[in-house]
Amino acid sequence: MNRIIIIISLIMTMITTTTSAAVKASYDIVPLPASISMQKGEPFMLSSATRIVYVGSDEAMKRNAKFLADYLAQTTGIKLSTNAASGKAQKNAITICTDSKMGEETYSISVDKKGIVVTGGSAKGVFYGIQTLRKSVPVSKTDNIELSAVRIADQPRFGYRGMMLDCSRHFFTVDFIKKYLDLMAMHNMNVFHWHLTDDQGWRIEIKKYPRLTSIGSKRSGTIVGFNSMVDDQREYGGFYTQDQAREIVEYARQRYITVIPEIDMPGHMKAALAAYPELGCTGGPYEVGHRWGIYLDVLCLGNEKIYAFCEDVLKELSDIFPAEYVHIGGDETPTERWAECPKCQAVAKEHGLTAKTLQGYFTNRMERFLNQNGKRIIGWDEILEGDINQSATIMSWRGTANGEKAAEKGHDVIMSPTTYCYFDFCQTDTSTLYEPSPRDGFISVEKVYGYEPLAEGMSEKAKSHILGVQANVWTEYLACPQAVEYYSLPRMSALSEVQWSSAPKDFGAFKQRLTRMTSLFKLCGYTYAHHLWPEEMISPWEDN
Ligand code: ACM
Ligand code: ZN
Repeated sequence: MNRIIIIISLIMTMITTTTSAAVKASYDIVPLPASISMQKGEPFMLSSATRIVYVGSDEAMKRNAKFLADYLAQTTGIKLSTNAASGKAQKNAITICTDSKMGEETYSISVDKKGIVVTGGSAKGVFYGIQTLRKSVPVSKTDNIELSAVRIADQPRFGYRGMMLDCSRHFFTVDFIKKYLDLMAMHNMNVFHWHLTDDQGWRIEIKKYPRLTSIGSKRSGTIVGFNSMVDDQREYGGFYTQDQAREIVEYARQRYITVIPEIDMPGHMKAALAAYPELGCTGGPYEVGHRWGIYLDVLCLGNEKIYAFCEDVLKELSDIFPAEYVHIGGDETPTERWAECPKCQAVAKEHGLTAKTLQGYFTNRMERFLNQNGKRIIGWDEILEGDINQSATIMSWRGTANGEKAAEKGHDVIMSPTTYCYFDFCQTDTSTLYEPSPRDGFISVEKVYGYEPLAEGMSEKAKSHILGVQANVWTEYLACPQAVEYYSLPRMSALSEVQWSSAPKDFGAFKQRLTRMTSLFKLCGYTYAHHLWPEEMISPWEDN
């Protein structure tokens, strides 16, 4: 009897394996590779009999192989083994290897009947090839995937491909930051700009100044909505220990993402002033901000103590974050207190400055300190208003003109204009239940997609100073991870094409590729806005 059951089940297994139709992969992915050339010849059939092979003994390549295996297991359920090998192009294998003659972020993929080969200029290039492959594979539990013969050759348009997340106005856990980094990796992004301090909360442990976190990381209430008169009077707080920050840096590094920390100075410092009131012009008392916007109380630039304080903070930060850059903020700094403060007046006079131009003196001192410690600075475009050194990199946020002018003057520039790259703006002009942001105007997916960072009329020299593009997710009104994801997606996908792809733009074709990509968002548990797919919008009342 037992033998009959075994034989029947064997026959059933044979029937199902031989008849299950192959599910086809598609190279219609986001961001679009520079060149996809379909080849004649039979496709490659990916199944659980396929192996992943990495060439060489490099740790990064071994990890890349594991990434690929994990992605494929998640997308298809197929679990592939990973092994080191000495030669290229193994049979029935996905082989990943490097070729140092290619650019660092460049990769190619070749698929034929015998197998798949992903070649990168470095392990980083291979990682982008792996992202392309995992997005080409269909989200489908199957053991039989058909990949058409192809040659893909790809490299990024811009070297700096960033996302900024504000973790001061609202605090996000280490686990969420990792999930966000995974989303960045999916989009071939390589810089996570981490906004760690602001008026409403100081979020990074600084060992020399423990009150920054014991006092500065907590506010005793938050204004409800758009600076209404109502305060929720609930304590809100959180911060990252230095060990947690290091954990994030390492997690990002493994995904070829550099973490650039931002300490916003000399304005947006209310949380630090609450902890150390002697750093302000009036001496306080100060409290961690409850409302959004700009506060008049800033660091006292006439007090030597603030330079020692900032240098100590930047020194500890430099030990945690190996990135070449530190972002020193510099935006929205009112000068009223400096104009009234005898100490600030004295320093301004000594250097032939006024309250209005004093910030440049501060910026140059911070830059000199960081340069001496092997770092470079990035600042928001307001730092251009002081007489600052050309070596400072400018993040252009108040439109694009400041960035274009800075690039003409020889500054390196990262484009991050409110007009295209502020992802805390709504995604539609029709107010919806899901989009409570009170910011004026809206930025649709199509608008982001249409952004051209190298404006006509810029000189070739200035264009060469545009390092890349970044979007900013400010979180005054985004209090939970789902809101951050919803405001990020799918605009982040549109941004990734601005950052990565050189191909002519076609929103209709992009939308089709993006629609396919949403199955991956769903699989990975990301919340995304549905304006491009209104039929998918659900009303909270529909289920009742
Ligand atoms: C900024 O949005 N204040 C840089
Ligand atoms: Zn002062």
